[in-house]
Amino acid sequence: QTIYLKDYTPPSHLVDSVELVFKLHPTQTRVISKIAFRPNPDAADPTFYLHGEQLKLIRASIDGQDANAKVTDLGLTAQAPDAPFLWEAEVEISPATNTALEGLYMSNGMYCTQCEAEGFRKITYYPDRPDVMAVFTVKIEGEEPVKLSNGNDLGDGTWHDPHPKPAYLFALVAGDLVNLHDTFTTRSGRKVDLNIYVRDGDLHKTPFGMDALKRSMTWDEEVYGREYDLDLFNIVAVDDFNMGAMENKGLNIFNSAAVLASPDTATDGNFHRIETIIAHEYFHNWTGNRITCRDWFQLCLKEGLTVFRDQQFSGDTRGHAVERISDVLQLRARQFREDNGPLAHPVRPESFVEINNFYTATVYEKGAEVIGMLKTLIGDADYYEGCDLYFTRHDGQACTIEDWLKCFEDVTGRDLAQFKLWYSQAGTPRVKVDESFHDGTYTLTFIQSTPPTPGQDTKDPKVIPIAVGLLNEAGEEIHATKVCEVTDEVHKFRFTGLEAKPVPSINRNFSAPIILERDQSNAERAFLLAHDTDPFNKWEAGRALARDVMVRMVTEDATPDQAYLDALVAVARDDTLEPGFKAMCFSGPSNDDIQQALVDGGVTPDPTRIFLTGQTLNLAISQTMQDLLPRIYAEMQVDGPYSPRSEDADRRFWGNAALAMLSRLDGGAQAAAQYASADNMTQQLAALGCLLRAEVGEAQNAAFYAQWKDDRLVIDKWFSMQVSHAKLAAAPAKAAELTAHPDFTMANPNRFRAVFGALAGNSAGFHEPGGSGYALLADWLIKLDAKNPQIAARMSTAFETWPRYDADRQGMMREALTRIQAAPGLSPDLSEMVNRILAA
Ligand code: ARG
Ligand code: ZN
Repeated sequence: QTIYLKDYTPPSHLVDSVELVFKLHPTQTRVISKIAFRPNPDAADPTFYLHGEQLKLIRASIDGQDANAKVTDLGLTAQAPDAPFLWEAEVEISPATNTALEGLYMSNGMYCTQCEAEGFRKITYYPDRPDVMAVFTVKIEGEEPVKLSNGNDLGDGTWHDPHPKPAYLFALVAGDLVNLHDTFTTRSGRKVDLNIYVRDGDLHKTPFGMDALKRSMTWDEEVYGREYDLDLFNIVAVDDFNMGAMENKGLNIFNSAAVLASPDTATDGNFHRIETIIAHEYFHNWTGNRITCRDWFQLCLKEGLTVFRDQQFSGDTRGHAVERISDVLQLRARQFREDNGPLAHPVRPESFVEINNFYTATVYEKGAEVIGMLKTLIGDADYYEGCDLYFTRHDGQACTIEDWLKCFEDVTGRDLAQFKLWYSQAGTPRVKVDESFHDGTYTLTFIQSTPPTPGQDTKDPKVIPIAVGLLNEAGEEIHATKVCEVTDEVHKFRFTGLEAKPVPSINRNFSAPIILERDQSNAERAFLLAHDTDPFNKWEAGRALARDVMVRMVTEDATPDQAYLDALVAVARDDTLEPGFKAMCFSGPSNDDIQQALVDGGVTPDPTRIFLTGQTLNLAISQTMQDLLPRIYAEMQVDGPYSPRSEDADRRFWGNAALAMLSRLDGGAQAAAQYASADNMTQQLAALGCLLRAEVGEAQNAAFYAQWKDDRLVIDKWFSMQVSHAKLAAAPAKAAELTAHPDFTMANPNRFRAVFGALAGNSAGFHEPGGSGYALLADWLIKLDAKNPQIAARMSTAFETWPRYDADRQGMMREALTRIQAAPGLSPDLSEMVNRILAA
């Protein structure tokens, strides 16, 4: 059943208070609820309706009288008085058999919950919609030594959360847990107890998360003026979890992979991701919890804004240039791919079948880009003033994108109607750039268009902030960055008083999430790579150069371009550049990047050919760099005990890029040495990757398993590495082989993703021309769907690119999708995805 934004109506009833008693039992948990309702004066339809799924109703009453409820698979209705009343009910649920990991479930013997978006209705009957907010009191009865819920601890398993909240922010945890404790004092003097709860044996993996939490709390006070509002903030690590983490009020629940880290088990990349997610969930306390969403169409109101905030935090923490580059890499890899395929949808979607299918790169990452553009357009001062207004005006409310934008209209006096198109129009805008130079005046002409997307054939011009700087022939900046506000389909900007035609640096810092179409020579790209003062565009120039070189090699059988190789050597030799930046310049475009570039140029991509071409180019780069590599490698070794701080991490990043190049020349000798001496996971795993790529890592691969077999998170890496580094048809074969390994289980989303996420990410392997990748993934999605529809639906996006390919691959991909579609008992989650993917 499809739900539409335009059909929104206010709830029939509001809730004043909720009292819940949980009598925990693995298969027969009883949930007793007392809910004080009152009719909503703004209701469109007064019928009393409660959501409820997979609940066994024991009893229900209204003001003490049998409620005579009419129950369906999705909820119940009852005759309710036209005045405030007390609803009392008792239901039975079975957490131990809840394999969908939504609602109350069990993970490794511990009870936990995931309610966003619509999981609370699997716990008890309730108006499970974010615009119904209430104060919750919860009593947990059970043998478990640790029993947690939202808000303040009243002792004896009883919890009270004074902040009215929607049901999706409810959380409960019970189990045999240990905790790291710390405190934080807010700037107005509130002393907050902080805890990270884990299972026995994981305590040594919690200090980094705690440190990241305290830094996040300080940052939100300093940058957004937001303080924490309870005396307690708890985090719990859970092994079986569908997403990264969840911002439940005062009780954040994390996938253990998104919080647990120690130097010997977690990589620099893991530490970075953990810091980002801790910050993200903490920041939700204001952007999400204090101010929530009116309905799920407004999801980007909290997610886009919170991703933007966590990106700001990471930039402040780790350096803005490298952070921006990695954010844009992500955006292009996931969001551009989505926005240019059958699953394209607006940042604020207008309809859905299953809301869980809309926790997407578009809502999150493009949603964050939209906030960034707003900030660029109105400037920092007005941006923060608008945020302050939003926090005061809407505290305690469930809001819409209109409410958010109105705050900035009120602060700036600007009309944001055209800007709002970023929320309603799907698709990545293309901006074509023409330039001319006459009598000292340089004119840039921007021509914007957005291709059709499902359900949206035509698009209106958007307001696009394009930051531009100009350089002269000598490589000096002659015009500092200026933001061109493109509002028309064709829009010209003039720069006067110039002596000669400048070299433009366009869309600096990636000021807008667009695809620039510009005839640019490789000489100019190399020039910008050498001279641009904007670090993002400096990197971007190198990236464009690499893309062009690869595309020519793929389409014209060209040999590796010498000018490109020389430019890379110049980057490597440049002492003014940071190691992290150099490493970014050397991580060439992915197979998928090249595919997107080919599709944009009207060429059908062949993932196999792209892979083989990449090997050739990488070998040429390694050979060109040969003389420099030993010194870079030696210089980038970090002495002393491991620290995840970015100065060290960036050196390892560049050092391991050098190791990867060396490994293409020395048969893996240096990598084997690094593997043998590594004292942290970053160095160990990087070395293992080089060895697997060189197909000489069998011994180390076995040793790695033996060393880490008792650490689930490390074994996830072991599974995924083998699939990521397997070549062509060997990748699906390796994935199939690993599903027979005793440690493989589809009950754990991390483990399933370790194998099949790695397969989907290995383009040449997944798309091997025999179709074995498609068939294998389809088989397993069908199997998984019966247990965990959310993850099955999410992983089906591996097929979203089918329209790109040749007829053979298209045929096999469609066949796999059709086979999934026809599977008996398919979930609404997976069926919505497959239908949308096939509709292209
Ligand atoms: N609100 C969470 C976050 O981004 C994501 C939870 C989504 N869960 C889901 N099943 N859709 O921080
Ligand atoms: Zn979020």
